[in-house]
Amino acid sequence: MSIVYLSRRATFCASHRLHSEKLSPAENKKLFGKCNSANGHGHNYILEVIICGQLNPKTGIVMDLTKLKKIIEDSVVARVDHKNLNLDVREFKSLNPTAENMAVVFWEWLEEALPKDLLYEVRLHETENNIAIYRGE
Ligand code: NI
Repeated sequence: MSIVYLSRRATFCASHRLHSEKLSPAENKKLFGKCNSANGHGHNYILEVIICGQLNPKTGIVMDLTKLKKIIEDSVVARVDHKNLNLDVREFKSLNPTAENMAVVFWEWLEEALPKDLLYEVRLHETENNIAIYRGE
């Protein structure tokens, strides 16, 4: 039996403000700089969802990519696209919407929607150079 990894990419736009309730205003400003600006800023995010599973010898696939695409659309993109993450998304009302926290939240949403034990990795590209990677650990 072969184990194969499959990656599917999705994009969305959202705005956020990096701010931790556990830090003072001065500490927030120092740590997050411009990203702590009161009215937020936007990103064109790229989300990569990597699944890992048995290659079905009969069909030659691990999972129907059309189904994976729909799960990513319904469980993540529809909830965050063109939203203000801090104000519009329940999970980020009290959780700082950093790329790291977003990758963890997206993992939880995806895991609920995908067949059991298929999700391997969530990669969230916040900019061309900044990527948060989460494997459910
Ligand atoms: Ni940002």
